[in-house]
Amino acid sequence: MRANNSATERTTAPLLDIEALRADTPGVAEVIHLNNSGCGLLATPVLETMLEHLRLEARIGGYEASAARSAEVQGFYAELAALINAQPRNIAFASSATHAYSTALSAIAFEPGDVILTTRNDFISNQIAFLSLRKRFGVRVVHAPDLPEGGVDVDAMAALMRSERPRLVAATHIPTNSGLVQPIAEIGRHCRELDLLYLVDACQSVGLYPIDVEEIGCDLLTSTCRKFLRGPRGSGFLYVSDRVLEAGHEPLFVDMRGARWTGPDTYQAVETAGRFEEWEFPYATVLGCAAAARYARQVGVEVVAQRSPALGAELRELLAEIPGVAVLDRGRVLGAMVTFSIEGWQAEPFKAAMDARRINSALSFREFAQFDFADKNVTWCLRLSPHYYNTSDELAEVAAAVAELARVRP
Ligand SMILES: Cc1ncc(COP(=O)(O)O)c(C=O)c1O
Repeated sequence: MRANNSATERTTAPLLDIEALRADTPGVAEVIHLNNSGCGLLATPVLETMLEHLRLEARIGGYEASAARSAEVQGFYAELAALINAQPRNIAFASSATHAYSTALSAIAFEPGDVILTTRNDFISNQIAFLSLRKRFGVRVVHAPDLPEGGVDVDAMAALMRSERPRLVAATHIPTNSGLVQPIAEIGRHCRELDLLYLVDACQSVGLYPIDVEEIGCDLLTSTCRKFLRGPRGSGFLYVSDRVLEAGHEPLFVDMRGARWTGPDTYQAVETAGRFEEWEFPYATVLGCAAAARYARQVGVEVVAQRSPALGAELRELLAEIPGVAVLDRGRVLGAMVTFSIEGWQAEPFKAAMDARRINSALSFREFAQFDFADKNVTWCLRLSPHYYNTSDELAEVAAAVAELARVRP
């Protein structure tokens, strides 16, 4: 989409027509939406695709509607595959990133003493899943250390790969609790060299950065569709490499979509990543995800990858100037997500004060980031996550609101 940025835009993105993109986004008329790390605003083509399918279901019946739209449903696999440089056979729909993640974990036959090597910034639910595997199967969970400036120390992680020979290496590209972007392709290079199974959580990066599963060198990758991809809630996907499919990995519970019941005592998993799916699908949502992925590719993820993090950097600069505010993001590469603490406020009242100004934000608590928040010595922070359709004017308004709240205190 072409250039037409307003004169007040500090963050320039010559290939994006921000006004047209905002005209496509009904929510921007209602709120300043800086909660794209929670859930992006739906674009009109995505909304219309979903509504049209629900209307069709109401008119002709749910099973009949999905049959009538089977070509478009196949479009989900083609669009998501194109977005991450995979093939449609490698994509499974999931109802959430967490569901995709736990289904992927269930396909690994862990044995007592097996090591899961991960980072100190992996997502809360992934960490809980690792601990649950520890409780049930006696695996060991090893966390690679961080660099002094923040972010995982890849050399130290690679040394642990050599000494521990982990059954699984797991890394979250962008954590939920800070603007950090982890070097997942560098980690992947070591995994490929050592032939280690590698699972990537790309929940906060799909739609924000170009994702290339070949370049990352991952075996499995999970994401939602609702965040920077701007798809509907209740959606996600799992990428499963040919390596994993050919090795015969399958989730613990495979249903009638994932396998054929070939005889009273036998079943055969399907050859594609479909073996990780459930039979029942929210078809309007699946079609909405396909539309969101198509939309993202039309907008151009390469340009988004410049503009959205640049808006994050602009917001960080504005917030850093406010007395009583401490910007918390640390690491060599920072993305669109901005986190900060503010003196004199409790979490919920502060967010409520932002809500009252129609500024959408999110809270993160110590529980979401046991290592990171302990290092930073904070119990909570506010998270602001702009995306390409946000403007410099909006960021200035948000910074002014934070400055006012920092002055008045409750
Ligand atoms: C890094 C990361 N991974 C995974 C998830 C979980 O996604 P879902 O809520 O779709 O399960 C989130 C959600 O915020 C996240 O930030």
